[in-house]
Amino acid sequence: MQIGILTGGGDCPGLNAAIRAVTRRSIKTYGSTVLGIRNGWAGLINNNTSPLDLVSVSGILHRGGTILGTSRTNPMKNEGDIDRIQENVGKLGLDAVVAIGGEDTLGAAAALNDAGIPMVGLPKTIDNDIVGTDMTFGFDTAVTIATDAIDRLHTTAESHHRVMVIEVMGRHTGWIAIKSGIAGGADCILIPEVPMTLDEVCALVKQRIDRGKTFSLVVVAEGFTMKDSQGHVTQDDKVDEFGHVRLGGIGEVIGVEIERRARIETRVTTLGYTQRGGSPTPYDRVLATRYGVTAADLVHSGDSGKMVALKGSKIGTVPLAEVTGRIRTVDMELYDIAQVFFG
Ligand code: F6P
Repeated sequence: MQIGILTGGGDCPGLNAAIRAVTRRSIKTYGSTVLGIRNGWAGLINNNTSPLDLVSVSGILHRGGTILGTSRTNPMKNEGDIDRIQENVGKLGLDAVVAIGGEDTLGAAAALNDAGIPMVGLPKTIDNDIVGTDMTFGFDTAVTIATDAIDRLHTTAESHHRVMVIEVMGRHTGWIAIKSGIAGGADCILIPEVPMTLDEVCALVKQRIDRGKTFSLVVVAEGFTMKDSQGHVTQDDKVDEFGHVRLGGIGEVIGVEIERRARIETRVTTLGYTQRGGSPTPYDRVLATRYGVTAADLVHSGDSGKMVALKGSKIGTVPLAEVTGRIRTVDMELYDIAQVFFG
């Protein structure tokens, strides 16, 4: 068989581990050939590919980013792109494509599978918001980076008697915020799933001051909205091909208000893309490797239209159609646990 692999959407640690696993399994176990598709769906639209072999995937397991490049190109957006993809798949002689991506990339994979191109999906994103799997790869690394940052901000907050607001990623969900916040001992965690008023946030900080605590750590997900506000804080009003705005800035808005209302010096740190770059944790390397090997097995058994998924401790599959158009939000049991430590 000839297998195509692409990485789409925002990059995350573990992509190279997954590419390596799909390639090695396909070549060594099945004697297939593998083509790397460049820059997500753009590579299939523009016929931009290069062969992957045992040499080209050697030495990449621990490397961040993706050797294939990525983009937020939406193949459903421009008329004629699906036809171009079908034509290129034919020309390249691809029997199936392994699409490694988040909700947007997997949604496109489901549609293209329905259009007759055999697709297998692999769930990646630091946001951990994909339905049908207990974990996406990239998330563990992002939580590790955010927790390390919170630990560092903790000591400086304590020394200067300040509030530290830490803004983490999480467009639709607060998975990174809740996990790193619990791990870092946050005094307040603000997530998109639970809007709060500024008065409620400031009350938690004041509660600590009343208890004699002279510093606080507030972790906020970029997609958090205040109960009394108009909606998301965004960087500008541009949208990407999937219609997403660029979030960012909620930490600054909250920081200014905490300082004004609770009368305590406040500083804001936005972790931004540091959460997405660099080397994957051992957990993410292993998860991406397990997903990649299973994806290659699915493709070779003709079992397309599926996404590889983690269910408990086992790797399973879920139909791509069930994954798309939905978001896996933070488990409220976890939020309840976090709340025990608020204020
Ligand atoms: O989807 C993952 C994510 O990291 C989001 O948390 C964030 O809003 C977005 O990507 C940023 O993406 P971009 O690379 O388009 O700026």
